[in-house]
Amino acid sequence: MIIIKSQDEIDIMRESGKVTGYILRELEQRIVPGISTMDINDFVEETIRKYKMIPTFKGYGGYPAAACVSVNEVVVHGIPSKERILREGDIVSVDVGSTYKGYVSDAARTYPVGKISSEAARLIEVTKDSFFEGLKFCRIGYRLSDISHAIQKKAESEGFAVIRDFVGHGVGSKMHEDPQIPNYGKPGRGPRLQAGMVFAIEPMIAQGTYEVEVLIDNWTAVTCDGKLAAHYENTVVITDGEPELLTL
Ligand code: MF3
Ligand code: CO
Repeated sequence: MIIIKSQDEIDIMRESGKVTGYILRELEQRIVPGISTMDINDFVEETIRKYKMIPTFKGYGGYPAAACVSVNEVVVHGIPSKERILREGDIVSVDVGSTYKGYVSDAARTYPVGKISSEAARLIEVTKDSFFEGLKFCRIGYRLSDISHAIQKKAESEGFAVIRDFVGHGVGSKMHEDPQIPNYGKPGRGPRLQAGMVFAIEPMIAQGTYEVEVLIDNWTAVTCDGKLAAHYENTVVITDGEPELLTL
């Protein structure tokens, strides 16, 4: 069942989204060669707490940190570590969730570390673009899989692969609500979109194969071929008009 949010609930989620979005914007300047993935996590957690919010991910299904910090071939759910030092040429995806008055916002970006290859930069760009292609269908009159299809079309037309094993989702008082939102599929399927639905739309796009493997830590998801992957996510409200991005 897809939960329709009231205006009051959306107002709270907007506050939450501001902090999540602010953190991801601040990270643009802070991600430089030589820092550790734990340094990124520390900034995320400190900032969420500074605004009297709760890091949604910490303790979720036993996840140990506030942020997921996923380097290069890590697709999602990279666990921050003091030992994992970022080097020039890496790409790093950071996924952040903040809970405010019981409501969650969820967003992610992929960042370059110093100067990166043009192919890595193109992967990051296309992943973001695929989100915005999907966003065009976040409107009344479309159906859920229209979003999925638009994301897939963009990513594949640029020669990249869509990760299958992880999907976007409804978001509200729980981080993961119905519906699941795959980043691929035929158009014209699934529920019709209604005002007050709130979705975390999150394309995860890879350079090579879409197949992933989860490491023995039970979290870290890597591409099976070791090629790069990128992630871009925002919390989006369906309205009577333009979709509202709560985390941008
Ligand atoms: N944004 C991710 C998601 O949508 C983050 C979940 S990570 C977890 O699923 F550690 F909290 F599980
Ligand atoms: Co999410």
